[in-house]
Amino acid sequence: MIILNGKEVSEIENNKTAFFCDKFFNLKKRLPTLAVVLIGSDPASVTYVKGKKKACNAIGIKHVDFDFETINERNLRELVDKLNKNDEIDGILIQLPVSGFNDDFITSLINPEKDVDGFNAYNIGKMFIGNTAFLPCTPKGILHILDYYKISTEHKNVCIIGRSNIVGKPMAGLLMQKDRNATVTICHSGTPNLKEHLLISDIIISAAGSVNLIDASMIKKGCTIIDVGMNRIPDSSKKNGYRLVGDVNFESVKDKVYAITPVPGGVGPMTISMLMRNTVNAAFLRNYQFLPEHKYKWK
Ligand code: GUN
Repeated sequence: MIILNGKEVSEIENNKTAFFCDKFFNLKKRLPTLAVVLIGSDPASVTYVKGKKKACNAIGIKHVDFDFETINERNLRELVDKLNKNDEIDGILIQLPVSGFNDDFITSLINPEKDVDGFNAYNIGKMFIGNTAFLPCTPKGILHILDYYKISTEHKNVCIIGRSNIVGKPMAGLLMQKDRNATVTICHSGTPNLKEHLLISDIIISAAGSVNLIDASMIKKGCTIIDVGMNRIPDSSKKNGYRLVGDVNFESVKDKVYAITPVPGGVGPMTISMLMRNTVNAAFLRNYQFLPEHKYKWK
């Protein structure tokens, strides 16, 4: 059984991003810059944002922070408008969800050229029709993990559990493109026969947010599982009082799978890593109209 070590892959990708940051600094005499907007104090959002800023600092991306307890629509529009027009801001991250606003409204405010989350309808649409676009970070990170471990999706049955705009839908959109050539099924809370779909799947990508959703009786021997679940369960032995578990009962499936991502240390680190890459890419595209990976050779 192979443990798909997302932490290891993310470190490799972060080194590459740091190399591109250096190239950008040499050209522009400033660091690629990410505006980080946090509204409210949802504990998960606070943790994610902290992790993203830490990654910026480690890689060499400048972050400019905007923290609010609450914000009204007019002030939010004004803030994002200012960031959209500020030439020294390359990417804009507004941590979702924002209480009182639809995700869709928030993402529609961001200039697609600075939409490093890849959530804006323009970028999602471009991705779906097979054009280059900023890709949502979790699906993009999953593709990087599969590529690193040489797990092809060509002619495979891939079952995605979850239909969110952040993970499930874009993941399906990417895997159905000709270059990935997977046969994709999306299951969700309205799917009556999940097990039937899973039993014929070569690759399962679970983003349901449901502890112990999948056990050994539900999967095909030799399949690969990507566990996107980030479920917090109480654990008094931990300093913060909880631990993270995925959607998959790891102990149950571990001897039946070909490969699996652990939680934590699987998909999570890749999401942040891809946000960093998208930010550097945005800096190059906005200022120099090319992607660093097309110009600079790294290892
Ligand atoms: N909320 C949960 N995941 C994400 C993410 O990747 N980006 C943003 N902006 N909000 C999120």
